[in-house]
Amino acid sequence: MGGAKRVVAIPGEDAAAEAFSATMVLLENFSLDIDWSYPPVGAAAIQMHGEAFPAQARAAIDESDAALFGATSGASAGALFYLRWGRQTFANVRPTRFTQGVGSPLASPEGIDLVIVRENLEDLYVLSEGAIQDLAPLGLWSTTWQKPVVDLGPGAYALKVITDRGCERVARFAFDLARRRKAQGRAGKVTCATKHNLLFRTDGLFREVAERVAGEYQDIEFEVLIIDDFANRLVGRPQQFDVVLLPNLYGDVLSDAAAALAGGLGLAASGCYGSDYAYFEPVHGTAPDLERQRVNPTATILCAAMMLEYLEFGEPAQQLVAAVERVYAGGTSLTADQGGTASTDEFRDAVAAAMRSGG
Ligand code: IPM
Ligand code: MN
Repeated sequence: MGGAKRVVAIPGEDAAAEAFSATMVLLENFSLDIDWSYPPVGAAAIQMHGEAFPAQARAAIDESDAALFGATSGASAGALFYLRWGRQTFANVRPTRFTQGVGSPLASPEGIDLVIVRENLEDLYVLSEGAIQDLAPLGLWSTTWQKPVVDLGPGAYALKVITDRGCERVARFAFDLARRRKAQGRAGKVTCATKHNLLFRTDGLFREVAERVAGEYQDIEFEVLIIDDFANRLVGRPQQFDVVLLPNLYGDVLSDAAAALAGGLGLAASGCYGSDYAYFEPVHGTAPDLERQRVNPTATILCAAMMLEYLEFGEPAQQLVAAVERVYAGGTSLTADQGGTASTDEFRDAVAAAMRSGG
């Protein structure tokens, strides 16, 4: 990628937009060679173009190298779906790292430094649901009920779909990430967790493919856990994990749990990577219940850092992360979720000051 990088900015709804603008102000300090575009999506797009995700927004994404996304309450869901399924961003990377000064429910959160790699496109997220009676022609059998599924009575079903290709690409992504992390001094370990003891075919496939890929990465330690055991260990002693490879829905649920261990959702960043595109979005939602001017923008700021890294602006990315860490270590300009009284903008200004004073 030569020349300026092109980035689409989608602030999202409610308090997400506040965190987004704080992040943009911080990015301006770096004078990066980035062409930003702000295609209207959601409510603004409905006003201008009569639809929430107009062709203009889609074209802007297609012409860009990456996107920074606030969070959606639903109004920008069309954009989110396109950024995931349209751009095939199959690996959702969600780091949890304990930073001195952040709140944790654990007595000893020091040393937590794990990354969940969540498969991002398959599983129940193929979003194929229907009425149970529609399954009648298929004659599907329930192994546990020992009768045809249609005989369970009126109700609804959802399909869980796991493909060979989907497993393989996300597993490789996880092992490559573990290798890069090992080169930086981490353990070099991938933990894959599924319900393969019950869902032999779907989760069984996910695990089997992960195991096969593991064979090609002899330098990386590999372990398989059952997903409920993983949940227990995640809360009990998260320091044992490095890279964690999970199917989509478990990854969704457990990345929120992991976030709670080191500062909560206010700090949880995430990036969704495909083979030729990536977009970055906090793990949290739009927090419509929170006062907009007092939300913690850290997750969005850390998303921006992940994005800078992806766009090969490694140094500013590190400066941004280091500045955020200094603010937490200082402990004086924290937002309400971290026990402080700072507004979103006061926190932002503290990060900017830390950037100026730090090396
Ligand atoms: C997330 C969110 C989304 C998901 C929703 C908004 C569809 O919870 O990014 O974690 O379930 O993937
Ligand atoms: Mn989620």
